[in-house]
Amino acid sequence: MKITVNRKAHFNAAHRLHVHNWNDEQNTDVFGKCSNPLFHGHNYELIVSVTGEVDPETGFLLNLDILKKIIKDEVEDYLDHKNLNLEVDEFKTINPTAENISIVIWNRIRRKLNPDFKLKVTLYETPRNFVEYWGE
Ligand code: NI
Repeated sequence: MKITVNRKAHFNAAHRLHVHNWNDEQNTDVFGKCSNPLFHGHNYELIVSVTGEVDPETGFLLNLDILKKIIKDEVEDYLDHKNLNLEVDEFKTINPTAENISIVIWNRIRRKLNPDFKLKVTLYETPRNFVEYWGE
């Protein structure tokens, strides 16, 4: 019997989306306002979903204090109030899109989580635009 436990988190970060060897016009065509060379911010909302079996002794899937600490260490401390392009190693070579940010978050949480659990990350870049990543 599988069950999913979710925890929400939040961070603010600045980014710029662009492809190095494109000119400004091509970048604006594809990335719109997100290609602003002077960067801009988003209020990211994150949902971390952990799926597995309930521990019959505790009645928990996992202790949410542990998940809270993992999210603080691996996501909030790493990304909150950062310029993603300039300050976060992963985004020195890849575009900090919601897709790529989700993958980075997933990888950082995954390595701290019991391997028996399935992990999903849902990241809202705006209230209406969000991506989901299962690690597949
Ligand atoms: Ni943007």
